[in-house]
Amino acid sequence: MTQSNETHQIDPCTLVLFGASGNLARVKLFPGLFRLDSIGRLPAELKILAVGRQAVDLAAWRADIKTMLDAKFKKGYDASAFERFIARNFYHANPPTDPDAFAKLKNTLSDERIFPQNLAYFLSVRPVDFAPVVESLANVGLTQEDKYWRRVVIEKPFGTDLPSAQDLQKSITKHLKESQIYRIDHYLGKSALQNILLQRFTNTILEPIWNNQYIDHVQITNTEMLGVGERTTFYDTTGALRDMIQSHILQTLALTAMELPKDLSPDSVRDAKIKVLEQIRPIPVNELNKHVFRAQYAAGEVPTSDGKTEKVPGYLEELARDNNGEKVDSVVETYAAMKLFIDNPRWQGVPFYIRTAKRLHEADTCIAIRFKKAPLQINGGQNQNWLIIGIQPRECIKMEIQSKIPGLDIKTRSIQLDAANRLPEDDTVDAYEALLLNLMQGDNSNYLHINEAEAQWRLVDPVVKAWAADKTSVYQYPAGSRDPEASKVIFESEDQFWRYSIELGGDK
Ligand code: BG6
Repeated sequence: MTQSNETHQIDPCTLVLFGASGNLARVKLFPGLFRLDSIGRLPAELKILAVGRQAVDLAAWRADIKTMLDAKFKKGYDASAFERFIARNFYHANPPTDPDAFAKLKNTLSDERIFPQNLAYFLSVRPVDFAPVVESLANVGLTQEDKYWRRVVIEKPFGTDLPSAQDLQKSITKHLKESQIYRIDHYLGKSALQNILLQRFTNTILEPIWNNQYIDHVQITNTEMLGVGERTTFYDTTGALRDMIQSHILQTLALTAMELPKDLSPDSVRDAKIKVLEQIRPIPVNELNKHVFRAQYAAGEVPTSDGKTEKVPGYLEELARDNNGEKVDSVVETYAAMKLFIDNPRWQGVPFYIRTAKRLHEADTCIAIRFKKAPLQINGGQNQNWLIIGIQPRECIKMEIQSKIPGLDIKTRSIQLDAANRLPEDDTVDAYEALLLNLMQGDNSNYLHINEAEAQWRLVDPVVKAWAADKTSVYQYPAGSRDPEASKVIFESEDQFWRYSIELGGDK
């Protein structure tokens, strides 16, 4: 983890963007690079070489970049920053039918007057193309690190299960060292996620209570109000478990549960995360229904930004819509919840409940920690303490404690200490901006190590398989509703409940 991005030296380099006309590049990468440039974070010599299948001339490509920026920065942007940025951009056509395409790419890049020779390749391409692109680059010598560094960014997902992740790893490590591989989990680029580790370990008061002596259970939640939208083809071969839990949620759990790293170097941070991920107890496949729960959204109503509600179709209807109106029988989950245990002295016996869903009643990503019962119980028992770290939409830390209700009676109520982790004047940095900067700095602490990717697949694979094989109909929840009642089956004790929102008391 680079302690100060501001002062960290970035070598002159060329960013080679495969899939440059795709959605990620248009919505995140070009606008992100432009913003970094506008605030003076790109090295003066940096060049961006977009690689696409179609032949596009440079003027047309630069005009296209302008449309991307116009779409993103609706309030406009600084003209001189734009001139500087646009001059960094070049285009190279790499038609898949051309056997010499990569030799030609090498030839283009060899012009040292334009392109600095440290090369970072960003593969925003179909996952099946990750290994072939790396191989083609290697075949023409473009991954070779002699005088200059060569780095490759692999977008999510890294494999679709453990064997495919291992196959991909095997293919790319024929040509690349681990230090050259940057596997993306964009959640690690979010400042709120990076804050988990810092908030835990730069304060004295949290660490002593962060263990099984004080903590009853932990909930890690990521819910969205949005549905699958146009991504039905992708989603129906993926599901919530692989889409969110295998990646973003297990990474959030790792940051919540890891031990203090030796220092903030990429190796130490990732070692500590790997360790805790590998200590998660495998889910017993013969008792799946006590540990995991899945469901699918049906038609329903969701709140809109103007305070009204909107009727939305169910998942199966969306699948049929994109299948020429024909019904598709799918058991793919849009809601997934899991109970996990971590076998180490700090966490022995503490359940971690993790869940994710599309089309729930609220969009909320947070870590909610419930503490054990207090030594003094009055009036038949009061609420337990909660500590909540809000990730999005609100970045905050909250503590719920008991306090006497002023007056003649001995009664308590929950009050909340509520602090914003983000102040109105703070800069809003997109996760991809942070990750692009880390890539150029050679800091891979916010990228996944292969052992993390593998540990994550190892954990979810048996459940993915069991769910795919079980064709009995999946529990349906109306879009816009709360967690399905039946999901509570995974709770260890009757007084546990899904914590909603970050408002006081949650609602039981
Ligand atoms: C992506 C998933 O990785 O993360 C999407 O494929 C999901 O399904 C998205 O919506 C959530 O990311 P964020 O940054 O909007 O919380």
